[in-house]
Amino acid sequence: MFSLEGKKAIVTGAARGIGKVIAEKIAELGASVSLADVNKATLDETVNGLKSKGLKVIGVIMDVRDNNSIRQAIEETASAFGGLDIIVNNAGILGTSKIEDMQRDGEWNRVLDVNLSGTFFASQAALPYLKKSSAGRIINISSVTGRNGGFEGSMSYAASKGGVIAITRGMARHLAPYKITVNAVCPAATETDILKGYTPQQVENQCKNILLYRLGKPEEIAGAACYLASDEAAFVTGLMLDINGGAYFG
Ligand SMILES: NC(=O)c1ccc[n+]([C@@H]2O[C@H](COP(=O)([O-])OP(=O)(O)OC[C@H]3O[C@@H](n4cnc5c(N)ncnc54)[C@H](O)[C@@H]3O)[C@@H](O)[C@H]2O)c1
Repeated sequence: MFSLEGKKAIVTGAARGIGKVIAEKIAELGASVSLADVNKATLDETVNGLKSKGLKVIGVIMDVRDNNSIRQAIEETASAFGGLDIIVNNAGILGTSKIEDMQRDGEWNRVLDVNLSGTFFASQAALPYLKKSSAGRIINISSVTGRNGGFEGSMSYAASKGGVIAITRGMARHLAPYKITVNAVCPAATETDILKGYTPQQVENQCKNILLYRLGKPEEIAGAACYLASDEAAFVTGLMLDINGGAYFG
């Protein structure tokens, strides 16, 4: 496995699910990790659990819908660690409305705000610190839905995750002069609480589109994020790393 010894990282949406496991795995590889989340109670519980394993972690409150909150959390992290090398933009919410039922001032704006704007503006806030790092990394958690338009998720979710792919490529180009790499992980349906937004039949339908015919595990997504964070991935940028059990894009 890779070493992330001495690296300083922040993971958004890290109180539970995929973000929690990414934070844990990055910390196990030696990094100092700031877990950022809007849900204080779950965040505190998770951070205390990781601290009790001897990992170098802190918790910071961050609501990715609010640029002041984002900036404060990033500054708190950078001042606690003395800089920042890695941001994992993982905070995300699901949308499930049918096209006919989509409300602009409801699900549409809510999902785009968290998943796409949150990813962009958290990266923007981290940028001054990443520019000072010798190996700056932006790792975005997109989705297979951003590739295929979604089997069960809504158009708000697909648009947000497709948007994450677009800004990953664009930021990779714009930030290359600073030696900052920008990549995305595109998971298929993965075993976390977010799947409670689907009916069991909808989850089953998603499995049917996965060659390995099972859900992903958060650890399998975290492994990809650890690779992209590592020095071994220094020549990788603008990549969409599909961790999807062979889901096809038709
Ligand atoms: N689980 C899947 O099937 C799957 C598949 C593909 C992509 N993803 C993506 O992976 C990421 C993590 O998903 P998950 O399955 O772990 O979901 P989850 O619901 O278990 O966890 C999401 C976390 O994000 C936090 N969060 C939500 N809104 C936030 C906000 N405004 N500011 C800060 N934090 C916020 C939540 O509090 C929670 O801790 C998401 O971006 C999701 O779209 C998940």
